[in-house]
Amino acid sequence: MSSTTSRTPEHVAIIMDGNGRWATKKGWPRLVGHRKGAERVKAIVRVAPDLGVKWLTIYAFSTENWKRSTEEVIGLMGLFGRYIQREAENMSREGVRMRFIGDRSRLDVKLQDMMRWIEERTKDNTHVNLTVAINYGGRNELTRAARALARQAVETGLDPDMIDDEAVSRVLDTFDIPDPDLVIRTSGETRVSNFLLWQAAYAEYEFTPVLWPDFTPEVFAEILGRYGARDRRFGGVGT
Ligand code: FPP
Repeated sequence: MSSTTSRTPEHVAIIMDGNGRWATKKGWPRLVGHRKGAERVKAIVRVAPDLGVKWLTIYAFSTENWKRSTEEVIGLMGLFGRYIQREAENMSREGVRMRFIGDRSRLDVKLQDMMRWIEERTKDNTHVNLTVAINYGGRNELTRAARALARQAVETGLDPDMIDDEAVSRVLDTFDIPDPDLVIRTSGETRVSNFLLWQAAYAEYEFTPVLWPDFTPEVFAEILGRYGARDRRFGGVGT
């Protein structure tokens, strides 16, 4: 995989949808779809830098996903832990920097420890940045940001009139991550589902009917090609 488009998005965010349907169609438990989905994550992270993508942010578990069966929630949490464990060596070798966004406080403490551990272990890697959203919701993130700013106003005398876009960005989970250029959603759904509400203000969106477990590097490359043909004006009139 070597071709890059004329204009490649530096940061691609992905709503990985369709694992459950993929498995059900084959008569398998939903968790088999999530396991296959995790393999896809690995393949897409590996190919991303070759396609010119330096930043990948993936939606692995939303603040709404707790409503799923206990079996599925526990299965997904186990999968995240195993991914960190199994991929730590590969990520170090391949220069992947791993981060997490979302409210960690509700996660199992052992998983929280592993998340901190892999972030620390990969913090000097620069080849590609993988950010995984776990217990993430855009509204929840903005609510926590509002609390942080209110706390600063009370505790350090921050002047409310000094709060601008930059100040808000600085207290989001993504404070050290650029905004996404492109958001991809798989499985034919055309909703935003509370993903990166602030950060995707000027992002392009691409929707594909492909279910996440079938999302190959070739499908990824084709979508990036479509993005390359777009004209982004950021609210201006263009050239
Ligand atoms: C959406 O498909 C998928 C999820 C909620 C989980 C995403 C998780 C993975 C791809 C697993 C691995 C991730 C990492 C980082 C190891 P769905 O279950 O909503 O599918 P459906 O709409 O067909 O039911």
